[in-house]
Amino acid sequence: MAANYDNSAWFYDKLSRLVYGKALVNAQVYLLRFVPANSKILIAGGGTGWILDELTKIHQSGLSITYVEISANMLALSQKRNTGNNEVVFVNNAVENVKLAKGFDVVITPFLFDNFLDETVNKVFNHLHRLLKPSGLWLNADFQLTGHWWQNVMLQSMFVFFRLLCGIEASRLPAIEQRFDNAGYRVIEDKTFFGEFIVARVYRRR
Ligand SMILES: C[S@@+](CC[C@H](N)C(=O)[O-])C[C@H]1O[C@@H](n2cnc3c(N)ncnc32)[C@H](O)[C@@H]1O
Repeated sequence: MAANYDNSAWFYDKLSRLVYGKALVNAQVYLLRFVPANSKILIAGGGTGWILDELTKIHQSGLSITYVEISANMLALSQKRNTGNNEVVFVNNAVENVKLAKGFDVVITPFLFDNFLDETVNKVFNHLHRLLKPSGLWLNADFQLTGHWWQNVMLQSMFVFFRLLCGIEASRLPAIEQRFDNAGYRVIEDKTFFGEFIVARVYRRR
């Protein structure tokens, strides 16, 4: 079953801020500073689209953004965001099913992979990898476990909640760093948030 957040679109941001404060936002805003001017960007699973407002605060114009969201309700909210004079194409589909021209300078996956079982992780990862230019940047934010008991409690609660409500597949975190390693990516910068439970990494494709 697809990880479609339709049912949670109207309260997702409020709930995530209630639980994590600004940590989910800060992790993504940290990543956005690495977006070069005038770049061609692919955002997969942007949720309600507040990331577009944040990106526009940094670059008022010159960006060419392809924004892919599987949830129609999330996409509808995203289409109301301020995108300045940037060019944005909205696509309502699972990103792995969308045929796009290669050659993105930046791919952004904010809390996308933690929804999936390994098979979907591989499919999505390989698809996005092919779309990113050599030397392009992949900005990824996800949860990680660094050995604190409360991280596991929070993670399992999220999995149960979003499985019941949105049909997410996952019940454990995928080994995402391993995929980046195997595909030859180099971490150029990273930062953790919320007691290391959240990690934002900037990868460069070789
Ligand atoms: C955990 S939410 C994160 C939302 C947003 N990035 C944020 O941090 O507020 C994951 C989002 O990815 C979307 N999604 C899940 N699977 C997807 C797929 N295969 N392609 C595109 N979007 C997907 C969901 O609908 C949801 O909006």
